[in-house]
Amino acid sequence: MVKLLIHGPNRLAGELNVHGAKNSTLPLMAAALLCRSECVLHNCPHLSDVDVSARILRHLGCAVSWQGGSLVIDPRSVTQCDIPDGLMREMRSSIVFLGAILSRAGRAVLSFPGGCELGPRPIDLHLQALRKMGAKIVEDYGCLSCSTEGPLHGAAIGLSFPSVGATENIMLAGVLAEGTTVITNAAREPEICDLADFLNRCGAKVSGAGGSTLVIEGVRRLYGCEHRVIPDRIAAATFMSAAAATGGCIRLNQIIPAHLEPVLPSFEELGCCIEMEESSLRISAPARLGRIKSVRTMPYPGFPTDAQAPLMAAACVGSGTSIFVENIFESRYKHVGELLRLGANIKVEGRVAVVEGVPRLSGAPVEAADLRGGAALVVAGLAARGATEVTGVRYMDRGYENLERSLSLLGADIRREYE
Ligand code: EPZ
Repeated sequence: MVKLLIHGPNRLAGELNVHGAKNSTLPLMAAALLCRSECVLHNCPHLSDVDVSARILRHLGCAVSWQGGSLVIDPRSVTQCDIPDGLMREMRSSIVFLGAILSRAGRAVLSFPGGCELGPRPIDLHLQALRKMGAKIVEDYGCLSCSTEGPLHGAAIGLSFPSVGATENIMLAGVLAEGTTVITNAAREPEICDLADFLNRCGAKVSGAGGSTLVIEGVRRLYGCEHRVIPDRIAAATFMSAAAATGGCIRLNQIIPAHLEPVLPSFEELGCCIEMEESSLRISAPARLGRIKSVRTMPYPGFPTDAQAPLMAAACVGSGTSIFVENIFESRYKHVGELLRLGANIKVEGRVAVVEGVPRLSGAPVEAADLRGGAALVVAGLAARGATEVTGVRYMDRGYENLERSLSLLGADIRREYE
């Protein structure tokens, strides 16, 4: 078994380059399927979710190889149109491959991604949209069998919720469709803009990315290109939370400051000072944090749900009461029980978590139950007095590139142990 062993408390100091965004890399890898020539994705993070996506592409017939921090994808020999159940289960966000496989092959067979640690992860918005674009989708025994008579066609699609994955699937299905697709109430996350930038560089015609209305004018073919993946804003927010929780002062490089604007007010309310430069930020925290009146997770440009858990870990050692409201996922408080084991004082009522700051946390063995909740336990362990053992490291490895190495560079006493 693998675990992260942390000894605290240690004030973090130093600087770190933030790795490329997991939630941008995955749809970009799916988009490569649509191209007639090689794609090179620079600044790709080495994560287990990226490895699973590479295995999916290889299963479909692509050649995928790493060249340092760049991923080279040659989609010219795609012969398959299915994603094996095992791979779907390893990564539920594999659903983002559906639109691209369907557009490329005219057929797609995937198992239902099912739920995950965050609760049921419905895909009704994905399927409704693809059916409007001409896909015939049969759902039986947990399997999705999709097909199209000829190319998909454009459609006017109004999303009842600005779903990131559904917006990405519609973009990937629409770029080679006949006619124009208009998405209203589209997701506005930076990862949507990164995908649109990549597709347009390949020859697509996508406009409006970053706004609520996306227009995708179908073209006949796309050619591969080189593209640099945007920095991971959630990883950056996680390191900011670690600096805040430990009263530290760190500098994060290779970020896009605008992507972090939704989280800045919360850190400032905690008492942190944040200086922004062109592609970096410096955060310095007080010896004792304050409190955050309320954090409500919302679609971008609201506070990101993925940063809720790490920020909560910092609020645990604040002074006063911080209120969190998780509006995006049904069960995204699995980290609370483990934070209580470290001495935190948190009460959860449905979507609301009330955090009473305590002067000090105490180290203990804790177990991660999901990616960002696991990161929160690491943040709390850095601030806790004594030894904290975090198991369930496989969750963190999905979304953070060598987390313990990054934190060690900032002065944390943390190491990975293999039992
Ligand atoms: C993406 O998930 C991210 N994952 C998530 O990050 C992130 O938390 C989420 O967007 C919200 O920002 C990737 O990009 C790989 P959604 P996604 O579709 O696309 C409901 C992480 O930690 N919904 O915007 O699955 C859904 O139940 C991960 O890096 C439907 O009801 O998110 C949820 O309540 C976790 N029907 C809400 O929308 C649908 O068809 C948000 O889902 C689709 C979604």
